[in-house]
Amino acid sequence: MLQGKRIAFGVCGGIAAYKAADVVSKLQQAGALVDVILTEHAEAFVTALTFSTLSHRPVYTTLWEPTGDAAARHIELGARADLLVIAPATAHTLARLAHGLADDMLTTLALACPAPLLLVPAMEHHMYQHPATQANLRLLAERGATILPPEVGHLASGIVGIGRFPETAAILAEMRRRLGRSGDLAGRRVVVTAGGTREPIDPVRYIGNRSSGLMGFALAEEARDRGAEVTVVVGAVSVREPFGMTIRHVSTALEMREAVREVIAKADALVMAAAVADYRVEHPARHKIKKGSQAENADGSLNMRLVRNPDILAELADARALLRVGFAAETTDLTEHAARKLVSKQLDLLVANDVVRENSGFGSATNEVTLFHADGRVEPLPPLPKRDVARAIWDRVVSLLRERDSETEMPERDPATFPTA
Ligand code: CTP
Repeated sequence: MLQGKRIAFGVCGGIAAYKAADVVSKLQQAGALVDVILTEHAEAFVTALTFSTLSHRPVYTTLWEPTGDAAARHIELGARADLLVIAPATAHTLARLAHGLADDMLTTLALACPAPLLLVPAMEHHMYQHPATQANLRLLAERGATILPPEVGHLASGIVGIGRFPETAAILAEMRRRLGRSGDLAGRRVVVTAGGTREPIDPVRYIGNRSSGLMGFALAEEARDRGAEVTVVVGAVSVREPFGMTIRHVSTALEMREAVREVIAKADALVMAAAVADYRVEHPARHKIKKGSQAENADGSLNMRLVRNPDILAELADARALLRVGFAAETTDLTEHAARKLVSKQLDLLVANDVVRENSGFGSATNEVTLFHADGRVEPLPPLPKRDVARAIWDRVVSLLRERDSETEMPERDPATFPTA
């Protein structure tokens, strides 16, 4: 997604300028061609050498460099950029951008650049909250800029407030999302479930499963990077959550069912990668179950009655407008079970994997899956990183969504049937 993309990257004079170096480094590692532009005040905090060492490219600091080229440097850099990012964007530069000032390399380039603009404001709490800064941000957003808001936390000024520069991963995710707006899922809303559910036994214990969330998050990130508006319903996971999407946290299967029902209202597709518990404890204890308490049988055993959880996917069988993808985690007779689930849950696609196989399933970075299509086709995929499995799944979903779109479009009328008068 970032590979080969040309990024014009403006850095302003705030203490977060040193953190921008990490963003540039990660962009370079991801294969992006990053042209860094430092404002005069940024150079008071960081040097051009820092950034050119990390970007492996020249760094621009002045408008007044005689290039000898037909197009001035700011015009050329602006014209070739796929995205203009300003991070950190200080209150002063936001004001200059809002008013269309062009008094240095960065602001001049911003006026000359037709690419989308991503602003990452970072500054002292009161400066950020000031009505002037807020009005400038609103104006820039109205003109189409994407604004990644700062975080709340410890600020260089010593106070805790809003204004912190977001972490590198959040900025990269926002860049991918912005660049993905021309992707094949642009304009689509998708819901992905990830992780495992936890069914309480008492206030401290639960029945869980080994789902890590890796597959669900890979699906969510891939959809985000292809332009979709993504909502992830997340149960228990053991990996970091992705950025650049809406996240709903749930714990039990019943909570997941509730959340999914709410968020699918306007969605085009639902991919249920979560490992949902099929059973829950009928009556979880209100207090911690103690050894030797009344709950225990005379022989020291403990009885617990489990009841069936609703099947979230199967319940949505009637939601014909929603494209539904299920997963089947199997340990035996994969093909048989998968084919049965595809039909019984009336799915558009079922992704089956043998979870006991090496390099596949829970917690593994790779996955070897077989795709079962609603038309009966069975498509085994080779062992792949989970992100590549996600790519293959969305490829199939995109085709299915296109087919669905063409079916619902008005059929062309035969001219012979047109009324003559
Ligand atoms: N699923 C669901 N609600 C449940 C259980 C499962 O929506 N209560 C979804 C899963 O997210 C997955 C698919 O159904 O996409 C298949 O889940 P799996 O546990 O493999 O199958 P089950 O239908 O539970 O069947 P079985 O217990 O027979 O394996």
